[in-house]
Amino acid sequence: MSQSKVIAFSSQKGGAGKTTLTQLVATYLFSQQVKVLVIDTDFPQHSFSRSRQRDLLPSITSPDLLASMAEKGIVPYPIETMTMDDLIRVLPHIRTSTNIDVIFLDLPGTLNVDNFALLAKQIDQVIIPFELEFKSFVAGMDTIDFYQLHNSTIPISAIWTKLKTPHNVKMKEQLESAIKGKGVYVFESVLKEAGSSIAKQISTIFPLKHFSQNIVDELLNKAPTHTSMALN
Ligand SMILES: Nc1ncnc2c1ncn2[C@@H]1O[C@H](COP(=O)(O)OP(=O)(O)O)[C@@H](O)[C@H]1O
Ligand SMILES: [Mg+2]
Repeated sequence: MSQSKVIAFSSQKGGAGKTTLTQLVATYLFSQQVKVLVIDTDFPQHSFSRSRQRDLLPSITSPDLLASMAEKGIVPYPIETMTMDDLIRVLPHIRTSTNIDVIFLDLPGTLNVDNFALLAKQIDQVIIPFELEFKSFVAGMDTIDFYQLHNSTIPISAIWTKLKTPHNVKMKEQLESAIKGKGVYVFESVLKEAGSSIAKQISTIFPLKHFSQNIVDELLNKAPTHTSMALN
């Protein structure tokens, strides 16, 4: 049995889009028959787990639809909630002893958590969401430094999130060249600013193809990774 791959959208900046991207990508991969597990360590918000609880409400997803999916063997991917310490302890076992293809970590908006550095050594691929503004940029660059310090071989990518149309193209180019200067891959796909509609549409059960497909294609086929994901 091959090891699960551990992927984290991670940034020092709260509200950058970590949980949103994790939901979009995990749910889309699940819809493509990839075996996904999400581990939510973002105490006390646990926004990922709360989203699943919401998605399972009869008013959001019809119980008949869930039942007919279950009859076909389609069960929404599991979401585990755990502390950072428990995660560090169990991750090596989960990734070697299950048939899960990809484990997504939904992480807190701070790296200043005990033992985060130990966790960094267990992540195979980290993707840092950047908003096109100065505070997010600084937080993202700090996040790059943190991972490079604690896991010198980790493949790091950056992705623009909440990108407005129009936006300051020159500023984007300049910041992007600083990010690339650290040896970090920058996604061509972006997550556009979608107003509050994204929060209303997003689901941990049903994919949002128009938001996720390009990002997932690039994640699988272009973004740097230790080993070929070979998921399809
Ligand atoms: N592309 C987007 N367009 C509009 N709102 C977004 C977008 N991405 C995320 N959001 C919203 O921004 C807020 C923070 O996003 P979230 O993914 O929870 O960030 P993080 O997990 O990094 O703290 C949420 O309310 C979310 O719905
Ligand atoms: Mg979050």
